[in-house]
Order: sequence, then structure tokens, then C-alpha cells
Amino acid sequence: MRCNEAFFDGMTVSENLDLLTASVKSLSLNSIGRHVLICADQTLPKCCDKADSLIAWDYLKRRLKELGLDAPTIDRPQFVFRTKANCLRVCQNGPILLVYPDGVWYRSATPDVIEQIIQQHLIGNQIVQEYAFCIQPLMLIPAEATIPVEIAEAEMAEQSVQPAN
Ligand code: FES
Repeated sequence: MRCNEAFFDGMTVSENLDLLTASVKSLSLNSIGRHVLICADQTLPKCCDKADSLIAWDYLKRRLKELGLDAPTIDRPQFVFRTKANCLRVCQNGPILLVYPDGVWYRSATPDVIEQIIQQHLIGNQIVQEYAFCIQPLMLIPAEATIPVEIAEAEMAEQSVQPAN
């Protein structure tokens, strides 16, 4: 058995890279402007009721779509990517919602609060101070330090485990 076959579920490395490239394109990962993560559908709901977390998640998804923020457009090439995180490890005063790269952590992210975050933060670029409990922006990598996709793919293929005899 080839190790890379086991890891990639029977696909060759290049087939797997093709799938990854397709995912990058279909999800428009190169056009993400902000990434919103919310604690929802938890395995161990500690910060809020699981039902409330799902209401919050559904609201976030629906509003981003209604406002056209969930996909890139010609007028607004960068969009908001969303992720339902099982737990963001704060585990109190939830649902917990996090906006990157700004690094703003919000508490009590009910639909009303999410609407404020969307309008004031995601659209208006102003932090909703009342609900923000931590602000720790991510360090941005200068564009010249990023690796072009083709080089990254070649490096991944090079680093993958070679077939055993
Ligand atoms: S359960 Fe919500 S942050 Fe951990």
C-alpha cells in the first residue's frame, strides 16, 4: 500500500491537489475579506443552549446571504466567509462570535446582536463595543511574503510521502 493513497483516500497526490484547487475556486477562498466564526451546534453546549446557537448560526447565514455579503461581486470583490465552530473555548456568555482578521470576540451573539455586528462591524467597519470582550487583531502577512498558488501546490506535492516499494 502506498502511504499517500492511505492518507488521500485512494487518490493520487495530483488528483487530491486538483480537488483542493477546485475547492479554493468554488469557495472563493482567495477573495475572503473577513472570516466570521460562531460557536454553534456544540457537542457540549456550555456557553448557551444548543438551540439558541443554531438560531444564531441560521440567522448569520441568512442575513449574510440576503445582504449579498457571502460571495464576492464585481463591486465588492472581498466577501465574508462564515464557519460554524463547535466551540470557541470561551464557554460562557455565548453564543461566542469571532471576526477575523480584526480579531474581535463578541459575546451574547443572539440574532439582534448579530444584526448589529453585521451592520456596524462588517458593513460599517466599527466595532460593536457593547458586546466586544476582546480585541486581538491577527498579524497580516505582507503580500510579497505570500506564496503563489502554483508554487504552494508544487511544494505540497514535493513534500508528500513517496510510494514505498
Ligand atoms: S461552548 Fe460556546 S465557546 Fe465553548
